[in-house]
Amino acid sequence: MTTIDSLTDAAPAARAVDVSELPIPPYRGNTVPSIDYEAHPAYGGMFARATFRERLYALNVFLRTFAFVTIRRIVDYDNMPLLTKEAGFSGLNARTALRYVSMYARIRASRAIGTLTGARRPAALANPALLNKIKSDGIVCLTLAPDEIDQIRSVTNPGFAKLDERRANIPVEKRKFDDNVYWCTRSADPEAFATVENIFRRYGIMEAASAYLGRPAGVKHVNAQINDQDLAFWKRVFPDTQLQDPWGSYLHIDATYGMLKCAIYIHDIGPDGGPFCYIRGSQNAKIGWFEGMVRRTNDFSGFSGRRPDARKKFMALPAFLRKKADFGGDLPDNSSDVARLREGHFAATSNYGNCVLFDGNGMHRGGMVNKGERRCLFILLAEI
Ligand SMILES: [Fe+2]
Repeated sequence: MTTIDSLTDAAPAARAVDVSELPIPPYRGNTVPSIDYEAHPAYGGMFARATFRERLYALNVFLRTFAFVTIRRIVDYDNMPLLTKEAGFSGLNARTALRYVSMYARIRASRAIGTLTGARRPAALANPALLNKIKSDGIVCLTLAPDEIDQIRSVTNPGFAKLDERRANIPVEKRKFDDNVYWCTRSADPEAFATVENIFRRYGIMEAASAYLGRPAGVKHVNAQINDQDLAFWKRVFPDTQLQDPWGSYLHIDATYGMLKCAIYIHDIGPDGGPFCYIRGSQNAKIGWFEGMVRRTNDFSGFSGRRPDARKKFMALPAFLRKKADFGGDLPDNSSDVARLREGHFAATSNYGNCVLFDGNGMHRGGMVNKGERRCLFILLAEI
């Protein structure tokens, strides 16, 4: 552990921060691994060449989804208020579309004015070393004090209780990923936001996030999440084949843009408890604008799925569009990329801290619980 003294001129009551030195070397690759899908036994090795009609269909879906991803990017959707029921969202129709177009336009205009006048700028840094760590490694493990974890546990208890209730009413085999997540809202769970914000300010986390993102940033979402050994979403990767599950299963980059995330462990998490894992330094891998959009498009369109019909559609795309943000399950174990990924793969167990700040543009995975249950909070830091 390295103790970093806070520079307290910017943030009030910033605390000394213990940042764990990661025990592994940084990723030696400089790209997201490319995968030869023609040669892959569950893709090109399995399906006949797509017909002209299938290729046309796949391209049509891809282009429409690409347009959707482009619009999300242009409006900076990930840094906009959510289309939630809380915001009065009742479904996508002409009225709500118009309402959000005008709201987004207003926000973009006021941000542009703020930038021009200098009113909109990143926060002053409280902990420069925290920023340097996130810049070099893409992940920083911090240790919040026991009383802070107690506070967080107590203000998020109601959220976890609702989640428990919801999960109890859904049979294990029918539970989807989202059934295990409770989205706190500022109106229903104001204490959850206030507590997290206070603690983050104390450590200079908000300011570091803001400086990293190059814009004002705050706590956009607080999500309670439960994973258990029954939710084995990373197993049986190719359910219709006899292929063994690959080491890289569930390694992915996030589909979101322009935000930092933070996992807070509210209990101890060991190697089998589904710790958050990160390929150290992989946020600096080069992903061009177009490549990033293509990867996200395939995830949004459903072409990244691994059931036979999704794989078939994916293979009907031109080879240069066959890239996924959720790529890990397709990485053959004998690829040279896997050796490099394994070298830089860091499992953030509780030994290294209980508050894991990371850039989702780097390669990561988590929640792969082998034994028991993992209760975790995910905080999204973005411009609000
Ligand atoms: Fe992720």
